[in-house]
Amino acid sequence: MAKIGNYKDIIVAGPEQYKGRWHEYFGNNNPIHVEFGTGKGQFISTMAKENPGINYIGVELVEGVIYQAAKKARSKEVSNLALVNYNVAKILDVFEAGEIERLYLNFSDPWPKKRHAKRRLTHTNFLNIYKQLLVPGREIHFKTDNEGLFEFSLNELADNGFRLKNISLDLHNSEFVGNVMTEYEEKFVNQGMKIYRCEAVCPVSEAFRTPQVPVAS
Ligand SMILES: C[S@@+](CC[C@H](N)C(=O)[O-])C[C@H]1O[C@@H](n2cnc3c(N)ncnc32)[C@H](O)[C@@H]1O
Repeated sequence: MAKIGNYKDIIVAGPEQYKGRWHEYFGNNNPIHVEFGTGKGQFISTMAKENPGINYIGVELVEGVIYQAAKKARSKEVSNLALVNYNVAKILDVFEAGEIERLYLNFSDPWPKKRHAKRRLTHTNFLNIYKQLLVPGREIHFKTDNEGLFEFSLNELADNGFRLKNISLDLHNSEFVGNVMTEYEEKFVNQGMKIYRCEAVCPVSEAFRTPQVPVAS
């Protein structure tokens, strides 16, 4: 905790207090983009540096890892980035419905055993959370080196009403421009591995549906 304490300006203490009020935290009304499982933070801090008109929030479960991300963020001198030490499974305590304009999932843990499928961040249970948090029509951007996780995720996304687009089975040999690499991505690309990527457009969730007026009989 001592290490995290040195980064109070970046790692948000008691993030639940900003639920529905993240614009107040940043002091502006810029769109909010969030990365779940941010790791050591290379992706989110580079994105924040390159896009000052967007507010970025990196969510990471492991304290020792988020500390590394905070160190990186400070070295980049960005004011549009916050880090949250939290479990994505409980993230509805931190964000209000429709508060997030884009979600990034980069190299999420694959949990290859079938009995662990519910832990994958693209499992239906998580997608139901993301559907509430994302503004309808906004997107999840997903990258992984793991073919099995990619296949599973495409199916889960499609089954949950997300519209898939810009699917790449080999990102680094594709025409995609503007890719920002994560730490894991650099490692896998250096090993000659393929990177899979897709974008998934969020459907309208129950949280946004207009209440139906009962039809008079
Ligand atoms: C394989 S690493 C990838 C890190 C980074 N995105 C990258 O591409 O370099 C996955 C990260 O997700 C985090 N993570 C896994 N499950 C999580 C959860 N339920 N909530 C928050 N973070 C989680 C792990 O602690 C780990 O740092």
